[in-house]
Amino acid sequence: MKRIEIKNLLERRDYNAQINVKGWVRTKRGSKNVAFIALNDGSTINNIQIVVDRNDNNADLLENINTGASLSVDGILVESTGTGQAVEVNATNIEILGKAHPDEYPIQPKKHTLEFLREKAHLRFRTNTFAAITRIRHSMIFAIHKFFNDRGFYNIHSPIITGSDAEGAGEMFQVTTLDLDNIPRTEEGEINYKKDFFGKIANLTVSGQLEAELAALALSKVYTFGPTFRAENSNTSRHLAEFWMIEPEVAFNDIHDNMDLAEDMLKFVIQYALDNCMDDLLFLSNRLQEEEKNKKADERSMELIEKLKFVLENPFERVSYTEAIDILRNSKPNKKKKFDYIIEGWGADLQSEHERYLVEKHFKKPVILTDYPKEIKAFYMKQNDDGKTVRAMDVLFPQIGEIIGGSQREENYEKLSKRMAEMEIPEESMWWFLETRKFGTVPHAGYGLGFERLMLFVTGMGNIRDVIAFPRTPLNLEF
Ligand code: 4AD
Ligand code: MG
Repeated sequence: MKRIEIKNLLERRDYNAQINVKGWVRTKRGSKNVAFIALNDGSTINNIQIVVDRNDNNADLLENINTGASLSVDGILVESTGTGQAVEVNATNIEILGKAHPDEYPIQPKKHTLEFLREKAHLRFRTNTFAAITRIRHSMIFAIHKFFNDRGFYNIHSPIITGSDAEGAGEMFQVTTLDLDNIPRTEEGEINYKKDFFGKIANLTVSGQLEAELAALALSKVYTFGPTFRAENSNTSRHLAEFWMIEPEVAFNDIHDNMDLAEDMLKFVIQYALDNCMDDLLFLSNRLQEEEKNKKADERSMELIEKLKFVLENPFERVSYTEAIDILRNSKPNKKKKFDYIIEGWGADLQSEHERYLVEKHFKKPVILTDYPKEIKAFYMKQNDDGKTVRAMDVLFPQIGEIIGGSQREENYEKLSKRMAEMEIPEESMWWFLETRKFGTVPHAGYGLGFERLMLFVTGMGNIRDVIAFPRTPLNLEF
């Protein structure tokens, strides 16, 4: 018999139909006469209840049906007499595909901490929480591609191995085939990269932006969606060494168009989650409320669905960095020295505590900060006439802080090349980027959305290690 997925089976009302369903046992309970098995196949957060009459012949079989075991069940679809489900399956035949020994299988039907589950990353997909996150993650990927496709953007694959540092921050993972026990040296005693695979130093990319710019200067509207790598040693709940970034780049756009695009995109994907992932969102909402039930009322997060709707309903506040510094300098936590980093004055780099203060306490909605000091931003950003600031834009979200970083780009050859020299960006590895400013340069703008930061927001999870299946963080490469 052909297998039917549980998501579809739960919608069916053709009672007495013969069906086959396959999946993993979540729980088994019951009485002397019947056993109830909750089976899940990942197609939905909901389980199908399998009802088995106990008899002399199936005692052994039932003994081996434990949480985590995989089953193929033939049976009859019936209306459920119990609460909690509309339909259930009266089993006529059960085959155990794979046992899971109750003394050994770690994912038992009880509360496990997220920390414990990180140690079991190979099995945590089998929990409701991670299956829900995985389904939402898929939907968000699809929604992002849909958003850009609907607006005539072209997706480009920017390279993963690169010879340049797109952010100029020097936080790159090196890629080499040199024998580290026997490194070839030049006569001067330096490492001879001519002998390396590419004949020069190679790294994993920190951003696909530079290549996206090249494409935008021909195709007008492009975006990348790829893995990016940062060797920053920051062990926080918002940083990964390997994360996914969405980077649109649009010719003829200025910073205002760029902000509109970012706001439209975020609202589109959040609406998409509400329209398509409600079962999983409700599950995660309950999970979060359960987790925070012992917190004081003012320390609890906003209910998840309410929080998502709240972002949809409010225009993002657009504020300059200079205004934000004034607000922060005069804020209570700054005056009372409650911030870890006290804002002394203009020029300070903002930490996530400051970003969250602006969003959560001051404006009480998402904020787009613009026109940052050039010293704290990348070389490629368009320089403002004041000589001090650049046309940067960071989108700040509740709970997250910076979710998007972007800017209008410097399109003037002389200005860009001067800034690169000032910031010691080697022209020999970046000549091709500069050259686009020589041939048919145009104003253009783009941004990068950290996909896992978006996932944190949409799922309400607190740690970035829990919204990607196999997180890469310092000293952590098990799975
Ligand atoms: O602000 P960032 O560094 O900007 C860029 O890389 C630009 N090239 C983007 C562009 O203009 N095309 O990074 C963009 C976003 C951040 O706002 C944040 O959401 C995310 O990427 N991000 C990280 N996410 C997880 N772990 C990390 N270590 C991250 N670093 C940045
Ligand atoms: Mg940034």
